[in-house]
Order: sequence, then structure tokens, then C-alpha cells
Amino acid sequence: MPLTDVIPSAPHEFRPATRRVATPRRLLMCRPSHFDVTYSINPWMRPGEPCDSSLALAQWECLYELYRSLGHTVDVVEPSPGLPDMVFAANGATMIDGKVLGARFRYAERTAEGPAYLKWFTQQGFSEVLWPEFINEGEGDYLVVGRHILAGTGYRTDLRSHAEAQEFFGLPVTSLTLVNPDYYHLDTALAVLSDTEIMYYPAAFSPGSEAVLRTLFPDAVRARPEDAAAFGLNAFSDGYNVVLPQTATHLMARLKNLGFNPIGVDLSELLKAGGSVKCCTLELR
Ligand code: ARG
Repeated sequence: MPLTDVIPSAPHEFRPATRRVATPRRLLMCRPSHFDVTYSINPWMRPGEPCDSSLALAQWECLYELYRSLGHTVDVVEPSPGLPDMVFAANGATMIDGKVLGARFRYAERTAEGPAYLKWFTQQGFSEVLWPEFINEGEGDYLVVGRHILAGTGYRTDLRSHAEAQEFFGLPVTSLTLVNPDYYHLDTALAVLSDTEIMYYPAAFSPGSEAVLRTLFPDAVRARPEDAAAFGLNAFSDGYNVVLPQTATHLMARLKNLGFNPIGVDLSELLKAGGSVKCCTLELR
């Protein structure tokens, strides 16, 4: 073939988006029947300010129905009176390959949630359960990317828990240090999009941890401050559908360009406790 017939490579903008495939997941959620903001353990929580409990419940039901309509199986754990943050199921445990690492909370207000969640797991017949020695707030600080665990520390989960998790799951754990109190859990600053992709808010991490993320995920979506503040990184992805707060508009556009299907939801009342989509969602792997 003469050289002049060589087809030039397509301009960047014509590159077809990666074909994304959603895989059905099993999720655990907790209905916010007793939700309220009665104490403050993160900068978003202002106990004196109005919070509409029935709206919180309605918004949560929308998320629950959305997951079901996307083909996911959703289990629910019975909410306990006196545990207003129990709605944030992500914090209840970490489950990988059927193994359950229980959660041990930093603040007294949430301590009773650890055993409450663990009780659910044992009642379901999961037998490989570890009651942890060190403080860890479940999937709030443990995020699974393929066969790798990203682990947050700095505000809640004890650094020593990272070694405990690595030993228990037998998977490599990478420690990441959070430095901005607004993003006190890893899942408020970083979301897993697929087995190899993440999105995150760089300013939430220490310089060294940010460098680690750049090394591991050079092509990651790096979120703007306004999307992070809208809790846009507190997202759930099934590999194609990415459920996130609807106000994270730039992130939604970026995800669409990458071939994902971003779905915006309104969880304004739960945000008053410093939580959103991912916080309400624990994945049972
Ligand atoms: N009020 C709760 C706390 O401060 C919110 C937890 C949000 N959950 C999460 N996975 N980020 O502990």
C-alpha cells in the first residue's frame, strides 16, 4: 500500500468511548427511620439546624428503588433507635470474597453500630467474620479496586487497621492519608468506577498520598472543588451506571464522556449528616 493511503489516526475527540458493562451487585442498606442530626462528629453536621426526617426517608427510598431498577439485589438491615447515623451502611463492615471485617467506630455516638451490623452478617450465615482489634469505619475508609484495597486514614480509621485488613483479606492494601476535615472518610474523596479506574479529589489527600494515586491511576478523573463539595465523589458505580449527587454537574459530564452512565440523585437531607450515595451503600462481595 502506498504511503499516502495510510489512514491517519483519528483525532482525539473521535476516539470511541470504552464500552462499559454493568455487573449486578448485592448491596446492603439501612432505612433512615431514626435519622436525625443530634450530634456533630464531622464539619457537615449542625445539630441546631432544621432537618426533614420524612424527606430524608423519601430520598433514601428513591435511591433504594433506583438500585433495584438497575438490577441490583438490595438487602436491608433493621435500623436501631438511638443510632441516627446507622443509615450510612457503608460504615457497617467491609466484605470481600465472603469474608467480613467488622467495623469499630472512632466516636462513642456510633460505637453500637459495629455489633448491630455484625449481628446482621452472622444471622445471614456468613461465618468468616473478624471482630477487629483496631478502629476502622468499614467501606467509609476501605474501597476495593479490582483485587486491591485503597485504605483511608487521618480522621477515622486507625493506620494499624490497614495491616489488619491486609492480613485478613490477603489482598494488597494501599494506605492513603486524608488531610481535609470536610473529607473525613476515603469515600467522601474517592470513588471506584471500575476494576481499574477511580475518580478523586486531589486536595483531600496529603502530598505523598496524592503522588501515590497519580502513580497507581495516572488516568483517573480528578474532581474540581465544587464537585467534591457537592459530595460528588461519594458515588456508587456498577461498572457502567454511576449513581452520584445530582449537583456534581462537572463530574457527571466527565463520566459521560468516558462512556459511563451518570445518574444524579438528591440526598440533601442525608448530606446534613455528612453523607450521600456511597455512604448509604455497602457492597456484599
Ligand atoms: N455522620 C456520619 C459520620 O460522621 C456520616 C458517615 C458517612 N459515611 C461515609 N461512608 N462516609 O460518621
